[in-house]
Amino acid sequence: MNDEPTTAFVAGLEDVVAVQTRLSDVDGEAGELTIAGFRVEELARQASFEETVYLLWHDVLPNEERLVGLRKALDIQRPLPRITLDLLRAAASERVPVMDALRMAAGTTSLSTPGEGIAEDDNHGEALALVARFPTIVAAYWRLFNGKEPIEPDPELGHAANYLYMLSGQKPANEFVRALETYLNTVVDHGMNASTFVARVIVSTRSDVVSAVVGAVGALKGPLHGGAPGPALDVVFEIGSANWAEPILREKLERGERLMGFGHRVYKVRDPRADVLSTAAERLYETDGDTALYGLSREVEETALKLLAEYKPGRNLQTNVEFYTALLLHGLGLPTDLFTPTFAIGRVAGWTAHCFEQRALDRLIRPQSEYAGVKGRHWTPPEER
Ligand code: COA
Repeated sequence: MNDEPTTAFVAGLEDVVAVQTRLSDVDGEAGELTIAGFRVEELARQASFEETVYLLWHDVLPNEERLVGLRKALDIQRPLPRITLDLLRAAASERVPVMDALRMAAGTTSLSTPGEGIAEDDNHGEALALVARFPTIVAAYWRLFNGKEPIEPDPELGHAANYLYMLSGQKPANEFVRALETYLNTVVDHGMNASTFVARVIVSTRSDVVSAVVGAVGALKGPLHGGAPGPALDVVFEIGSANWAEPILREKLERGERLMGFGHRVYKVRDPRADVLSTAAERLYETDGDTALYGLSREVEETALKLLAEYKPGRNLQTNVEFYTALLLHGLGLPTDLFTPTFAIGRVAGWTAHCFEQRALDRLIRPQSEYAGVKGRHWTPPEER
């Protein structure tokens, strides 16, 4: 076989098309995100998370009967097996960060073979268990980490509601559930991002979905991928009052710092997810009766955009998804340590759908490398080196 590369080396695979997918389409120039054919603005605000999961797995929205079937199957898989809880207890006693605990616990899905409630093939069984258990794992771990006992999922509640319930023990208001579903739908899939690529590479070797998702969690953990919303919110808190926005942000830019929550590798206009989440955050804060933080964030955003245009002219630095993610998740009462794990709770549905797509393609992902080392060396015995 000819092993000669057909294209030049591209650092970071930027602009290289590695995969064809029906799952999502990111148009960075137009600022549009399409999820399985639906504009994110339409789908995220209206669909339940379970509907979105079904859509990604089956390429069609579920009818009532199928939706009920998926909800039941998720209910059955949602409680954690003993072994997973034991592992989480051990991790909490070692003060392991939440994303590491999630990665370790996700791996235990292979130990408890899901069967009940699964009408489809094995692939969906693993995927169901992963999607169902991610919120249970994060909530149980967070409670253990804070010296509290985990709360069992409530079969009366849906996926998003259960996550909030298992964290606090309080049944959440509908507005809170809607806001969380909007968030989970918004981040469910996003083209060939790093963690999704990892998942596809793993499955392309005919490995299993659990391995793919464990790898993907590891990739999402990195600060260049899933870690920016916490710092974005910190800046809003640091500013505290609208008249401090300009001096504080200007000082950061003068020092050469980056403003968190702005700029994007693909979007050169406003990230469409920022609008969806900004509207959801506004509604949530209005329901809560205190819109001060939302109002301050809007002013910080406006000032940041004005200053970015001044300091980085021609760069088109716009608001990205992380800015309003932070505000929305904070409004839901989630601590910053749970921002990236909550992102994973949404994205795991996308990862599993990509696993199915890759498995159907059944083509090993195996790019070329370009040798950049020394050539023509000769071995010598250790005493002569
Ligand atoms: N604040 C200030 N300047 C920024 C900036 C930001 N948020 N984002 C990019 N820039 C500047 C860079 O300093 C660079 O300026 P220079 O050419 O004068 O050196 C220019 O814009 C291009 O930056 P580059 O790093 O090439 O852009 P990128 O496409 O690789 O970066 C991000 C994309 C997301 C990594 C970058 O915008 C960033 O670091 N944003 C802040 C972190 C963040 O919000 N991450 C979440 C992303 S969803």
